[in-house]
Amino acid sequence: MSNNTEISKAMNIHLGEIFDDMPEMPPFIEGIRRAPARHFNLSPKDSELALKNALRYIPEKWHQTLAPEFLDELLSRGRVYGYRFRPKGALKGKPIDEYQGNCIEGKAFQVMIENNLDFEVALYPYELVTYGETGQVCQNWMQYRLIKRYLEVLTDEQTLVMESGHPLGLFASSPEAPRVIITNALMVGCFDDQDNWHRAMALGVANYGQMTAGGWMYIGPQGIVHGTYSTILNAGRAKLGIPADKDLSGRLFVSSGLGGMSGAQGKAVEIANGVAVIAEVDKSRIQTRLEQGWIKKSAADPAEAFKLAADHQRIKKSISIAYYGNVVDLIEYAVNNQIKIDLLSDQTSCHAVYGGGYCPQGISFEERTELLKSGQAGFKEMVDTTLRRHFELIKILVDRGTYFFDYGNSFLKAVYDAGVTDICKNGKDSLDGFVFQSYVEDIMGPLLFDYGYGPFRWVCLTGREEDLLRTDQAAMACIDPDRRFQDRDNYVWIRDAAKNKLVVGTKARILYQDALGRMTIALKFNEMVRKGEIGPVMLGRDHHDTGGTDSPFRETANIKDGSNIMADMATQCFAGNACRGMSLVALHNGGGVGIGKAINGGFGLVLDGSERIDTVIKKAIPWDVMGGVARRAWARNENSITTGITYNKIRQGSDHITLPFLADEKMIEALVIEAFGKIAK
Ligand SMILES: NC(=O)c1ccc[n+]([C@@H]2O[C@H](COP(=O)([O-])OP(=O)(O)OC[C@H]3O[C@@H](n4cnc5c(N)ncnc54)[C@H](O)[C@@H]3O)[C@@H](O)[C@H]2O)c1
Repeated sequence: MSNNTEISKAMNIHLGEIFDDMPEMPPFIEGIRRAPARHFNLSPKDSELALKNALRYIPEKWHQTLAPEFLDELLSRGRVYGYRFRPKGALKGKPIDEYQGNCIEGKAFQVMIENNLDFEVALYPYELVTYGETGQVCQNWMQYRLIKRYLEVLTDEQTLVMESGHPLGLFASSPEAPRVIITNALMVGCFDDQDNWHRAMALGVANYGQMTAGGWMYIGPQGIVHGTYSTILNAGRAKLGIPADKDLSGRLFVSSGLGGMSGAQGKAVEIANGVAVIAEVDKSRIQTRLEQGWIKKSAADPAEAFKLAADHQRIKKSISIAYYGNVVDLIEYAVNNQIKIDLLSDQTSCHAVYGGGYCPQGISFEERTELLKSGQAGFKEMVDTTLRRHFELIKILVDRGTYFFDYGNSFLKAVYDAGVTDICKNGKDSLDGFVFQSYVEDIMGPLLFDYGYGPFRWVCLTGREEDLLRTDQAAMACIDPDRRFQDRDNYVWIRDAAKNKLVVGTKARILYQDALGRMTIALKFNEMVRKGEIGPVMLGRDHHDTGGTDSPFRETANIKDGSNIMADMATQCFAGNACRGMSLVALHNGGGVGIGKAINGGFGLVLDGSERIDTVIKKAIPWDVMGGVARRAWARNENSITTGITYNKIRQGSDHITLPFLADEKMIEALVIEAFGKIAK
């Protein structure tokens, strides 16, 4: 059996090389949000395993000190985070030139990682959680240290392999291959469930990457504002009869959550000219959004919140109001006081409904945090009772004319899991869907994803404001606002983006675009880098997109050919992006909806101005989107079929999408009824 001296000598990169002495425990800064203690139920034997697993990162000479410290973290927080290895003070995505590296990608990913862990950006920075309650960059600070060191030494002849936050190592590849390949939480089918998941997390062998947390591509809540703006605006047009060239002026939107993504709601409604009241139980999150200007006012009383809203609706002036309290109390007030809500949704973290994502009615946020630590069983019952009440109130409001939609947070699924079969279309199970539509089924799917419109984003890696302004202008010049109404909305979005002060963290921008729109803008940016007009740029996207995500409760909710339970598309997207030379590719289990409910992937592409990157852009970017459009077309989604027909013409000789022949539905129905009738006889 090898010993630790031999093992240590066999590695150039390990914590004993990074630190001369065991680092001091850095202080925790008061007021930085902390993740709640995660549910802990490891057996003593499994606890031993978790400790041995964590100590794999640690040179033997520190084991005596760190074994009890790690055990304490495990017992008190449900995980070993290795706090001692955290850098002192706050992290920030700095200009790319301030990082060490042997290749531009190695430096660029350090910018992205540190932005994901920025105190102003991350939800629980000390626990490496970027957003979505549980979405982590990696599992612990030992991994963080090693990843950083690997990125510093990575060359363009190597690929860093990341498995659930663990840097497996550097392996020889080629300049055309991805520099980093990330997978998170991919579990073998028969173990892909909550119990095995919790055990694997606590053992330190699984990381919940969400998407841009573990895929290192988060750009703060801006990343989601554009999608939220498009969703709410188009919900108004589709359901409230607002014309395609008008906005939400005078209309009331009510929802919950001012967290990582949900924090975009107030801002998005203001950009769409409407009035928003958003419930939030965590005061610190309201404070953050007020400081950022993403929420204009806060009220601790529903009457005050709705009065302020009504005053603004009357004069058709936009405003975003935070209600400090439980969303169920807020809508209970609306029901009892006949408040007319136009659009209603919910963005609590129901993908982790019993893990702290949804605060029960009748207790404060702080009490929730305490209960999470101790009374798991009682807590579940409180969550279920609140979910049931929440659903009852929504039904009343919908009967009065409100349009409610599920915001992809697994809310409807959570209500169903709380025992409400009324929420199912077939009254018994979720197989035929729910009585309320999700925003993808009704709005984002048919109006955006099916055409290929999705969350194209970029980060100006120099950190210079002028680079961002130049890219905004260049992107705007690439859009023809008269082509479709979506293009007009996107044009207006990018025209006003700087004015709307959306940046939190690195100088980043999001702009929904279709496949060829993304490609055209990317080529333009790469040319600008080549000419020295701007510094290098990181391109990417999130999972809320056409092709990278298989998620029957969200992104693929409007796929109706039965293939919504398959994960081929996301896997192909990941593999296709890798072989076409994206700088980083990522594939995760869970996404925004929870373990076992989605497979989603992403990419990062560093624009260095080279001709090589022009080639990658021309091949990989259209693939990343059109793989999704092709699959949606094959599922007979009308707008994808028309998009596919046009694409086959434009890309004749290079790409070719298989399109479906459409059967006569009446003929099929009659045939089947007749056949089943015969069988019955
Ligand atoms: N914005 C989008 O476009 C989008 C898309 C898909 C899915 N989602 C989903 O939306 C959810 C929210 O994402 P996030 O990143 O904002 O998560 P988050 O955990 O950062 O924020 C959720 C917020 O809800 C608050 N909250 C919980 N229970 C509450 C209650 N009963 N009343 C009032 N407030 C309550 C929490 O305090 C928290 O601040 C996730 O499930 C995510 O997957 C969002």
